[in-house]
Amino acid sequence: MTAPTTSYPTTGYAAADAYLSEGYEKVVGMSSRFAAGVCGRLLVIQSELGVTGHFAEIGAFEGRFLIAMAHSLGAGEKALGMDIFEWPNPEVEDRFEANCARHGIGPERRTTWKVDSGKTTPAEVLAKVGGGPIRMFHIDGEHSRAALAKDLELATACIAPGGLIVLDDMLHPGYPTLMVAVQDYLERHPEMVVLSIIDRETIVAATKFVLCRAEWFKRYEDRMLEVFEPWIWPLGADFEPHWCLVLSLDTRLAAIV
Ligand SMILES: C[S@@+](CC[C@H](N)C(=O)[O-])C[C@H]1O[C@@H](n2cnc3c(N)ncnc32)[C@H](O)[C@@H]1O
Repeated sequence: MTAPTTSYPTTGYAAADAYLSEGYEKVVGMSSRFAAGVCGRLLVIQSELGVTGHFAEIGAFEGRFLIAMAHSLGAGEKALGMDIFEWPNPEVEDRFEANCARHGIGPERRTTWKVDSGKTTPAEVLAKVGGGPIRMFHIDGEHSRAALAKDLELATACIAPGGLIVLDDMLHPGYPTLMVAVQDYLERHPEMVVLSIIDRETIVAATKFVLCRAEWFKRYEDRMLEVFEPWIWPLGADFEPHWCLVLSLDTRLAAIV
């Protein structure tokens, strides 16, 4: 059996790729570099498909993931960082601002919002980015079923028709019930499907799910099959009856003979 790949997806945008290779690990955070590379490239695929809008994140923390996404947006598009900014201390908001500035995301390219995501509305979110829409919404806030269910409804109401919702810490051993909230959501929203699973790098840098509207699935999947070819795990994921891509740094299959 050959070793897993150590190469990461890139975006083709010089500033985004420089941040991913040089800056990403220097910003305290939890999302994996692999997932950031995939999501940055998904923003580029969106641009190719004519999907425009802003990036929003619930749980911006110190900015690790948001900075990578902000570097992958188009002209005039902004990154909205939402967080209660109290954990592990209130100075985390200052560190978020400082990290954005240090890594090239000036105030004109970001909006910092100290907010409890469970207490806001789609209209308030869209107003924060000048009317919206959001083309990628990363949910990485409170890890309870109830909070995730609310955050999913908020994101669904804010995304563009071709928008993507990215969910962090899926299938995480520490948060096994989050998957229940996702399955309930998929049953409530048959117009939404899982586009792809982005496998974990470590227990902390956990798995993400990417969701899209069903009518956009094929357009994204066709492009992703080309772009992410080295990272596609051959068997895919079964959402009964929907199937989606699994992207991983380790695409090996079990040896059975
Ligand atoms: C795991 S950290 C996010 C890590 C970050 N996305 C990254 O990739 O490095 C979770 C964040 O969610 C925030 N959070 C928790 N509950 C929240 C809520 N109800 N509304 C907004 N943010 C929340 C916490 O303050 C914390 O900063």
